[in-house]
Amino acid sequence: LESKNKLIVGNWKMHGSLAGNALLLNALAAGAAKLNASVLTAVCVPFPYLAQVQTLLQQSCVAWGAQDLSAHLAGAYTGEVAGSMVAEFGARWVIVGHSERRLYHQESNEQVVLKAKRALEAGLTPIICVGETLAEREAGQTEQVLGQQLQAVLTALTVAQAERMVLAYEPVWAIGTGKSATVQEVSSVHLFLRRILAAVDAKLAHVRVLYGGSMKPDNARALLAEPGVDGGLVGGASLQAGDFLAICQAAQ
Ligand code: G3P
Repeated sequence: LESKNKLIVGNWKMHGSLAGNALLLNALAAGAAKLNASVLTAVCVPFPYLAQVQTLLQQSCVAWGAQDLSAHLAGAYTGEVAGSMVAEFGARWVIVGHSERRLYHQESNEQVVLKAKRALEAGLTPIICVGETLAEREAGQTEQVLGQQLQAVLTALTVAQAERMVLAYEPVWAIGTGKSATVQEVSSVHLFLRRILAAVDAKLAHVRVLYGGSMKPDNARALLAEPGVDGGLVGGASLQAGDFLAICQAAQ
């Protein structure tokens, strides 16, 4: 397995306020300056805060992005936000197909793929999330579900496009539950995903595969030490600068 610089991305979800963000972002900028350059860091924030994040992080080594984007380029789509708009705020990343979007907004594999394409067209790097529910895991369908989610992406993107994406394995049952998947569970899924990538094209060995789901300072080191785990997508623990930075340190 090729070893890559680890990438730690915070997903704030629907949390934040201008005042609270300012404290968090300033603490992140200061703390990240002390990290080893081998760790890449980013925060994905609600759309209204992109301008604030750009202002407060542009001198720092922390990058930023959004948590979703429209599957459309522009037009009469009330409430939607285009990738080009996100990119105008200096964003580099965008999360696509998070399980909360798949579940609460009925996003299908097809829509997720379209959003990933729109992200790439806008010059953003999509962080495409895949993951099985507890029912699917218990029914022994984990690989089938993940395989379908990943194949949909790989069928629709060219190899050159797919090379630019990041994948995130987020078992739905581990999100926000405090119950992280075990190192063995994570490792076996990451190897499974890598086998699918490698079967499409050897160039896809460069694709980073992150783990997300109750990653905390106390379990991050073990998870990130797995050779197939190229970083983390961190929800709850990204809302506290100390916790997020501790996870970044564990990635060094
Ligand atoms: O995208 C990150 C996420 O879904 C994991 O959330 O709160 O379990 O770290 P959390």
